[in-house]
Amino acid sequence: MKAILIKSPGNANQLYLGEYETPKPTPNEVLAKVRATALNRADILQREGKYPPPEGASPILGLEMSGEVVEVGEEVEKWNVGDKVFGLLPGDGYAEYAVIHQDMAMAVPDNLSMEEAAAIPEVFMTAFQAVHWLGKLQPGERILIHAGASGVGTAAIQLAREMQASDIIVTASQAKHNTCRGLGAHYTIDYKNQDFRDEIKKITDGEGVDVIIDFVAAPYFERNISVLRTDGRLIMLALLGGTHLEQFNLGNLLRKRIQILASTLRSRSRDYQIQLTKAFSEFAMARLQDGRLQPVIDQIVDWQEVKAAHQRMESNQNTGKIVLKISRS
Ligand SMILES: NC(=O)c1ccc[n+]([C@@H]2O[C@H](COP(=O)([O-])OP(=O)(O)OC[C@H]3O[C@@H](n4cnc5c(N)ncnc54)[C@H](OP(=O)(O)O)[C@@H]3O)[C@@H](O)[C@H]2O)c1
Repeated sequence: MKAILIKSPGNANQLYLGEYETPKPTPNEVLAKVRATALNRADILQREGKYPPPEGASPILGLEMSGEVVEVGEEVEKWNVGDKVFGLLPGDGYAEYAVIHQDMAMAVPDNLSMEEAAAIPEVFMTAFQAVHWLGKLQPGERILIHAGASGVGTAAIQLAREMQASDIIVTASQAKHNTCRGLGAHYTIDYKNQDFRDEIKKITDGEGVDVIIDFVAAPYFERNISVLRTDGRLIMLALLGGTHLEQFNLGNLLRKRIQILASTLRSRSRDYQIQLTKAFSEFAMARLQDGRLQPVIDQIVDWQEVKAAHQRMESNQNTGKIVLKISRS
C-alpha cells in the first residue's frame, strides 16, 4: 500500500509518499480502506524522533482515521465489509489501509462526511476523558480551557457546554476568539497580551474556576493553581511551554485540596481505550448526529500536501483540525 513515510527524523521535508506492507487484521480487527486521517501534535514529535510509537504499533504516523471496511477478522461480529467506520489508532492513519479493533471502531454518522469523521476521534476523546472522566466537570461549575482554539480545545469547549458548565473561559490568540465563542466559550482571554490570572479574577469576582484543561505546563503551573477554587482539578495534557519549575510553594495545593491529574491517551491500554470509545459514543453519537457537537476543521487537504499541513500546525496557524484526504490514483 501507499503510505506517508519518514526518511529520517527531522522537519516536514522528511515526509514522503512511499510503499509499506498492508496490515493484516487479527481475529478481532477489521481492515479499513482509509478515506481520511487528521494531524495531531504527536505526529510532529514522532516525525522529529521525539515520540516513538508504543510497542507493537505501526511506525507510520496517524492516530485516527475514517474508512470503509474491506476485510473482517474471523471473530468480528460488529462490522461487515462496506461499513463506514472511524476511530482512534495507535498509528498507521497516514496510509491507504489500517487495522482497527472492532470495539475501537465507531459507525460514521450519516450527516458527516468521511473527512469530518476523521477529525473527531483523537481530539474529542482526549477532551472527553479530560473534562468528564478526569476533570469530573459538574453542571454549574466553571472551566478554564487553555489553547481553546486547538483541536482538543475546540472539542473541550463543546463538551463543557453540553455538560452545562456555567462559565467556559478560554485562552487563545486574539484572531481565534470568534471561533471559540461560536462553539460556546463565554469568555476569551488573549494570553499573549493579557495575564489570564488577572482576567479570571475579574471574570469570577475573585472566586476562580473548578476545572482547568492545560497544555502549557511549567509557565502556567503557579497561575493555574492560584485560579483554582477549593477542590479544583488541574488536568495536564501537554508540555507546550516547558517542563521545569524554578520554584513553587506547595502550600496552596493543601489549602485548596487541589487535584492534579496528567494523562496521555496514546499510552493507555487498549481496554481503557475501548471503554473510552464506548463512553464517548454513548455521550456523543446522538449529539454528532443532530449537530450539537461538530468537528472544527481548519483545512481539508490531499495527503500529497502533507509537508505544508505539518508546517501549518507547527507554526500555530490552524484553528481546529487539519484533515488529510487519502487520494488514490
Ligand atoms: N495528553 C493527551 O492525551 C493528548 C492528546 C491529544 C493532544 N494532546 C496535546 O494537546 C495539545 C493540543 O493538541 P492539538 O492537536 O489540539 O493542537 P493544535 O490544534 O495544533 O493546537 C495547538 C494550539 O496551542 C496553542 N499553543 C501552542 N504553543 C503554545 C504555548 N507555548 N502556549 C500557549 N498556547 C500555545 C496555539 O494556539 P494559539 O494561536 O491560540 O496560541 C496552537 O494553535 C498538543 O500539545 C498535543 O500534544 C495531548
